[in-house]
Amino acid sequence: MKIAFFDAKDYDMPSFLKYGKEHGIEFKFYETKLTADTAGLARGFEGVCVFVNDSLDAPAIDKLYDLGVKVIALRCAGYNNVDLAHCFGKIHVLRVPAYSPYAVAEHTMALLLTSVRRIHKAYIRTKDFNFSLSGLMGFDLHGKTVGVIGTGKIGKVFIDICKGFGMKVLAYDKFPSAEGVEYVSLDELFARSDVISLHCPLTEETEHLIDASAVDKLKKGVIILNTSRGALIDAEALLEGIKKRKIGAACLDVYEEESDVFFRDFSGHIIEDDVLARLLSMPNVIVTSHQAFLTEEALAGIAETTVNNLVTFFKGDICENELCYKCGNVENCVKERKERCF
Ligand code: NAI
Repeated sequence: MKIAFFDAKDYDMPSFLKYGKEHGIEFKFYETKLTADTAGLARGFEGVCVFVNDSLDAPAIDKLYDLGVKVIALRCAGYNNVDLAHCFGKIHVLRVPAYSPYAVAEHTMALLLTSVRRIHKAYIRTKDFNFSLSGLMGFDLHGKTVGVIGTGKIGKVFIDICKGFGMKVLAYDKFPSAEGVEYVSLDELFARSDVISLHCPLTEETEHLIDASAVDKLKKGVIILNTSRGALIDAEALLEGIKKRKIGAACLDVYEEESDVFFRDFSGHIIEDDVLARLLSMPNVIVTSHQAFLTEEALAGIAETTVNNLVTFFKGDICENELCYKCGNVENCVKERKERCF
């Protein structure tokens, strides 16, 4: 099996080479992202392996299909970058539904603690032998209310971590499933939360879940955490909310327009994105570049599951991690399926 691996980074390769070798899968690593323009690199390959910022739109899918590519193996959980409806009947789509929810949930708490205890400021200060405490006043998380939007695998782990800190937890989910949590409406969550953390997928319904009208409903001084998908937040509305002092701080591991910037080194360059540049200039905004997943355990899990998905698929078996558009039950119809949908 030969798989073209797009948007490859040095940290991806060792685990994919290891698990690939064990199961007879040969990966060819390309640094470039997969788009309609670069899809030609998949010529001669049976499958492609892609990540969050590869663009699997209709033109890219058509090109892959014409080249005889049979499978798209996502090495991530989210699939908002794939036109699943267009894939149906042409190319099968596999994903990694879970690897380490702890990686993302722990990174979310790391961002929150960094923000409320001003660790990002203190780190730079002490490196410069400045030991003054002026401007570093934080606040206790204990007793504060956190609103968690999306209580799936990552949201649940984050809730447990917050409870460990003695925080009160409110939650909103379209399909509530967590025990021991007070589910409330979105508006109530907006009004009561001191901290809001986003852990739902990006869909048409959740796009710009935090927009200008949501910002109006927030508690003054709220901290917004987003380690899910950038477009859950309207970045311009976020910026306005911070400028008006409505939002006290924002910690972002994802950003709406991240695909043009994240995972690359722009030091020494002029950033074109004015909203991102303005956000980064704020003392109360912390940005990490989609690194929440980046732990040894998560990377090993991603590679293992991706390789297992491909092995299952090429054996002709039904892969439980296949996303299928046919009946609209994209993630779960496999449970009832007796044979492949196409
Ligand atoms: P999950 O599928 O276990 O949980 C998602 C939850 O969101 C579910 O409980 C679901 O019912 C809920 N949900 C669906 N539609 C909703 C809506 N309209 N409103 C409110 N809630 C809704 O997914 P998991 O593993 O917890 O991941 C969550 C998200 O985290 C992923 O969609 C992905 O975008 C993001 N992620 C980010 C990573 C990073 O490195 N920053 C790494 C992995 C995932």
